[in-house]
Amino acid sequence: MSTASVDGMIADTDAADDAAFVDQLDTPALKRRFDADNEFLFLDEFLPADVTARFQARIPDLTEAIHRNYIPKHKKGGSVSRYTLDELAPEIVALYRNPRFIAWLEAMTGETLEICPESDPHAYALYFYTEAGDHIGWHFDTSYYAGKRYTLLLGVIDESSSKLEFELFKNDDERETVSDARNLRPGAMCFFNGDEVWHRITPLGENERRISLTFEYVTDTHMSRWRRFVSNMKDSIAYFGFKQVFKRNKR
Ligand SMILES: [Fe+2]
Repeated sequence: MSTASVDGMIADTDAADDAAFVDQLDTPALKRRFDADNEFLFLDEFLPADVTARFQARIPDLTEAIHRNYIPKHKKGGSVSRYTLDELAPEIVALYRNPRFIAWLEAMTGETLEICPESDPHAYALYFYTEAGDHIGWHFDTSYYAGKRYTLLLGVIDESSSKLEFELFKNDDERETVSDARNLRPGAMCFFNGDEVWHRITPLGENERRISLTFEYVTDTHMSRWRRFVSNMKDSIAYFGFKQVFKRNKR
């Protein structure tokens, strides 16, 4: 940890870096777990409490920007897209783009990771489960990009009984599927290859609240025009609304 003197004040330069904590992680051991579970890792304690607290402090301002969706038998809940986070939650955007943070994720995957282009409303987003029954059904986080898509979920607020349920090795005929379910409490994380991990969030109970953050990284930012269209339609209908997705994509 380094320090610097600024106008007689001692400034802790690492304290200003929200990703400094990754240097304290046992990266080789976590990498072995990630690989052994077919590119999947769940940690109950990951993001430092002070970083999570700063993210939580943005929630009241973001609540007005929630776009709610209901797709019968598949999904009910609210979302806030990257465009809103760009305006209202700079520290969330900064962590998404933080080179030290991305380098740690690259150490997990063994891949060079790219941040998603500005045209992708899902690059970073918040999911708000605030009404009884809010949930999302079983799915993969399918990559519409030319390369792999990795999802990082971070717990921000969780006053709920909702669980992240997941099945590993779903696409592997040689391996028995491994199933588990976990609460994504504040500070917890789940990082996985979106095309490999079958997952869902179970329905929210009465008077419960669950807010989580998603970061998306890819190995190749190229996407065909047709896949971009399909991806935009999915994001419009299931997450952010047509106005957020298509108006922004014109830029
Ligand atoms: Fe997902």
